[in-house]
Amino acid sequence: MDDIYLEHILDHFKSPRNYGILEDANYVYEGGNPTCGDMVKFFVKVSDGKIEDIRFIGKGCAISQASASILTELVKGKDLEFVKNMTKEQLLDELGIELSPTRLKCALLSIETLKIALFGELS
Ligand code: FES
Repeated sequence: MDDIYLEHILDHFKSPRNYGILEDANYVYEGGNPTCGDMVKFFVKVSDGKIEDIRFIGKGCAISQASASILTELVKGKDLEFVKNMTKEQLLDELGIELSPTRLKCALLSIETLKIALFGELS
């Protein structure tokens, strides 16, 4: 694993961006990984088809929580279409590390949860 990317992930894990509850969110959804019990919950405020603000809370492994933090930075200010078309690979590229199949579930928990929050299903 490349040290720079590992540091990037640990930084997001220790100091998550956009962490907390958004009182005026109009989309709220909690997703979890049943095999370990880790979870992320997104609060999203959408207006005029754009993600005006987004926060999350969660608990779990460094990859799941860092991935949620990175995802909030990626989607904030973007329109819904951007999120709908966003691929798992795009998020994995941002994480920048090779992941085993088990770890892949950790990394993808955030994007899967966010898509269900906004669209009611995976897209
Ligand atoms: Fe639970 Fe990573 S070990 S999501």
